[in-house]
Amino acid sequence: MKSKKIDISGKGFRYQALVGAGLMAKAGELIRERAARSHCAIIADENSAQLFETPVRNSLVEQGFQPVTIVISPGENSKSLREVERICDQMIAASLDRTSFILGLGGGVVGDISGFIASIFHRGIPHIQIPTTLLAMVDSAIGGKTGVNAKLGKNLIGAFHHPSLVIADVDALDSLPPQELRQGYAEIIKHGIIRDAEMLRDLRGGKVTDCAELISRNITIKAQIVLTDDREVFGERAVLNFGHTIGHAIERAADFEMPHGDCVSLGMVAACHVSMRRAGLSAEERNQVVELLQKFDLPTQLPREIPRPQIFETIRRDKKFERGEIRFVVVPKLGSARVSREVTMEDLREAIAQL
Ligand SMILES: NC(=O)c1ccc[n+]([C@@H]2O[C@H](COP(=O)([O-])OP(=O)(O)OC[C@H]3O[C@@H](n4cnc5c(N)ncnc54)[C@H](O)[C@@H]3O)[C@@H](O)[C@H]2O)c1
Ligand SMILES: [Zn+2]
Repeated sequence: MKSKKIDISGKGFRYQALVGAGLMAKAGELIRERAARSHCAIIADENSAQLFETPVRNSLVEQGFQPVTIVISPGENSKSLREVERICDQMIAASLDRTSFILGLGGGVVGDISGFIASIFHRGIPHIQIPTTLLAMVDSAIGGKTGVNAKLGKNLIGAFHHPSLVIADVDALDSLPPQELRQGYAEIIKHGIIRDAEMLRDLRGGKVTDCAELISRNITIKAQIVLTDDREVFGERAVLNFGHTIGHAIERAADFEMPHGDCVSLGMVAACHVSMRRAGLSAEERNQVVELLQKFDLPTQLPREIPRPQIFETIRRDKKFERGEIRFVVVPKLGSARVSREVTMEDLREAIAQL
């Protein structure tokens, strides 16, 4: 099967995303065609290292690269400045320098921290992403946002640093647990809601059988949105936050015990409710979204143990809304989204109440 190539370019960056089967074993070749550098660090977590480090390393060595592998513990806690320092120290000890590059092999956690290190190591070296979760393939590997968590909040420390190549090997998804796969589908459905009604129809009709095609389509959607608004200046990129305002508040109210995609699924149901009130979304289209989320085992009803008032309080206290101005992403119809300034706190309270 031929792999799909997506060209992504914007101000000051240009790279390709490759999507297909069997790409990891060809990583060395694919990188060799594009990079003259030889020393590199493979950053992976314990799971992605165990599953994929050997084939990736072998293919790099075959092409004359000299990789050192640095492994982190799986999970969000590894996205810390302490870990950044530990990895940088290991890279320096291994004599990597400004002529080296970094390869992030894993899910969004690995992609975010390895990209951040690439942005600061010797003031910036190239970053190649080999995303191994569906979420990382369709979302986090694209767009250039990198970073780690601060003690008081997620993703607060970071930099924009676009990768120089993204290699999405769909075979990696074979080992991904269903609960992780679902997290990717939440963002895929979000992309459909804001940009691609046809993809939603295909997903509903069970027409999507070609995984590489679905992933490329989503990379293209994210890239297009991000490209028109590379650094979040025009607000265009904000549509990617559809379902995320209430989703993030649910994540907090659940003490981060509920996965992000599940929270966003609930946030999207609530945002559809707001969209019915404020943007004319039809009840029929809202129901279609709910059914599609359910089809992919995503939650559409808030578990009883999560306190609704706390979700609302989190939003009310959000610094972004401090001046009383709420900017909320609404969908007038499936496939198109816009930022509304007309949404009120009462709308949000009501949308949460009906979840
Ligand atoms: N930079 C961005 O624009 C952006 C966008 C969205 C999310 N994110 C970040 O992405 C992170 C979440 O990413 P994620 O959902 O990929 O989580 P993750 O990186 O924690 O991966 C989920 C789990 O799957 C395991 N895993 C990875 N690949 C596997 C495979 N092929 N088979 C079996 N297990 C595998 C991992 O070890 C981990 O335990 C969050 O930190 C979030 O902030 C960043
Ligand atoms: Zn998200």
